[in-house]
Amino acid sequence: MAAPLKLVVLISGNGSNLGAIISEIQQGHLNAEIVHVISNRPDANGLTRAQDADIPFTVIDHKDYDNREVFDQALMHCIDQYQPGLIVLAGYMRILGAAFVEHYMGKLINIHPSLLPRYQGLNTHQRALDAGDAEHGATVHYVTPELDSGPIILQSPIPVLESDDADSLEQRVHHAEYQIYPEAIRRIASGQVTFRNGVVYYNDKKMNDEQRQFAIKLN
Ligand code: GRF
Repeated sequence: MAAPLKLVVLISGNGSNLGAIISEIQQGHLNAEIVHVISNRPDANGLTRAQDADIPFTVIDHKDYDNREVFDQALMHCIDQYQPGLIVLAGYMRILGAAFVEHYMGKLINIHPSLLPRYQGLNTHQRALDAGDAEHGATVHYVTPELDSGPIILQSPIPVLESDDADSLEQRVHHAEYQIYPEAIRRIASGQVTFRNGVVYYNDKKMNDEQRQFAIKLN
């Protein structure tokens, strides 16, 4: 088997997606190793998850830096020490500057709680409800300089129920995220999914819409 893909995971908060990735690795379902976790918030609950799994972590508090450029530089300096094959944004709530994104182009992925390109940015669950959408979901994508717009790796739709409010919908989107994020990393770790010149390939052919869809297990 190939060497495990080295991951650096960036978080800002609860870190439940980090938890899902840790658990898939621990169960032997994902050939990857989280070599470091970085949080821009000292109080992020996700740090406890890293600690419990014996994963080293660093806090790089954005408040300690004068501007985005110097903060991003500090972040890059920290990440590059670990030479990761993939940088995984998991509820990382800072906008990354263009220099950062360019530096890691093709090695930087994000999960977003909507069916992109619908609902970039925040409050995605309420916006899906307000629009009367029949489906909502989660998307894993490569990060490009434009926010929540990079090429899609995987996307999972879930039905919006009549009884849903933003909280219940968020919970079910999370349930989808815990499956789709490890699956996207698995596809990258195995070489099934690759990225070249802004294009995502699946088994060395341009990925099509069907290959981007992932049906989650509902229970
Ligand atoms: C997730 O909904 C993810 O899609 C978004 O931020 C949330 C992070 O949740 N980017 P957690 O910190 O992983 O629990």
